[in-house]
Amino acid sequence: MVRTLDDLALDGVTVGVRIDVNSPLSGGELADDARLRAHVDTLEELLDRGGRVAVLAHQGRPGGEDFSSLSPHAARLDELLEFPVSYTDALWSADARERIAALSPGEALVLENTRFYAEEYMELSPERSARTHLVERLAPAFGAFVNDAFAAAHRSQPSLVGFPQVVPGYAGRVMERELDVLGTVAETPTPRVYVLGGTKVGDSIAVARSVLERGLADRILTTGVVGNVFLLADGVELGTPSAEFIYEGGYFDEIDAASDLLESYEVIELPTDVAVDRDGEREEVSVGDLPADAPAKDVGSETIAGYSLVLENAGTVVLNGPAGVFEEPAFARGTEGIYEAATRATHSIVGGGDTAAALRRLGLTGFDHVSTGGGAALRMLTDEQMPAVEALRQ
Ligand code: 3PG
Repeated sequence: MVRTLDDLALDGVTVGVRIDVNSPLSGGELADDARLRAHVDTLEELLDRGGRVAVLAHQGRPGGEDFSSLSPHAARLDELLEFPVSYTDALWSADARERIAALSPGEALVLENTRFYAEEYMELSPERSARTHLVERLAPAFGAFVNDAFAAAHRSQPSLVGFPQVVPGYAGRVMERELDVLGTVAETPTPRVYVLGGTKVGDSIAVARSVLERGLADRILTTGVVGNVFLLADGVELGTPSAEFIYEGGYFDEIDAASDLLESYEVIELPTDVAVDRDGEREEVSVGDLPADAPAKDVGSETIAGYSLVLENAGTVVLNGPAGVFEEPAFARGTEGIYEAATRATHSIVGGGDTAAALRRLGLTGFDHVSTGGGAALRMLTDEQMPAVEALRQ
């Protein structure tokens, strides 16, 4: 059982709140603020109830181009929230602790990127995390710790698992809703259909295996690079350009795993046609007419129609990954058609990360739940333990 904000008595308490605002950046500025907007309810509730809020979050990975300060995130949160939000480039130094101590009820302070601090980027046990500089220095300033960072809950990093060892821990509203929805997929209406696409082939195969073994999926529809790997596993010759993409992308090892699944389960469906890129134009080719001498970048119309029929009649649809190269309008048709059909199922759940970004870009709405987590949502769907959630349970 995870405690939620309903269990937290707040008046005047200083709360450390871990959120996940890891976002695409462009020229150092936020290119997408969806993850920030997701946390507005949690932060406003804490501030409205008189909390003093110290915000912890990460941005990027060490060495990466988007490994940057949280200054733009703080500025955007200040615009989004009805309460004042300030920023410090300190994380646990005396300066940071003084700024936290000076907070008034209803004020928030965004601390610096937790990953600027090396211990944060190690996968440490909760016990060891509680003994890091970050947790030892900051925990005494907090009367409570709220974890709202579902998207990072599959990481065992100090800011996620260390604080609940020493400070009472609670799930924020984002975390609570994600656990409610993704943790109860086994209880949703049937038939349950999983649509697995995009480029995360290994993760998709793990999800397929897990939900099939647990009897949770009545059908699996494959699209995107995942679909192409399954076609290869089924003995279809895609043609040199698509096969090269799969070999060069390091997806080759997944073909055997896909073929094992195809042999064990009859409910996995493969595209019956694909759309190849013929000098920038969409050209549809039946699977029976492959190989093609141009790269497959989307599923074809027959597949879209067939999959749509299954989705419209589904009790629950769980979708992850786009059906094609949706960034190019000629190859967005599969993603648009399939996701749009999924909104007509009784219940529709969409994985976060790249998938959520694709939906925003294509203006697709109407789902019952769009997760904030990419890797975290996939972990939940494979029923793996989430260290940050386990830490809250203790
Ligand atoms: C994400 O973007 O999926 C989360 O913020 C976790 O980031 P990470 O994969 O760099 O740990």
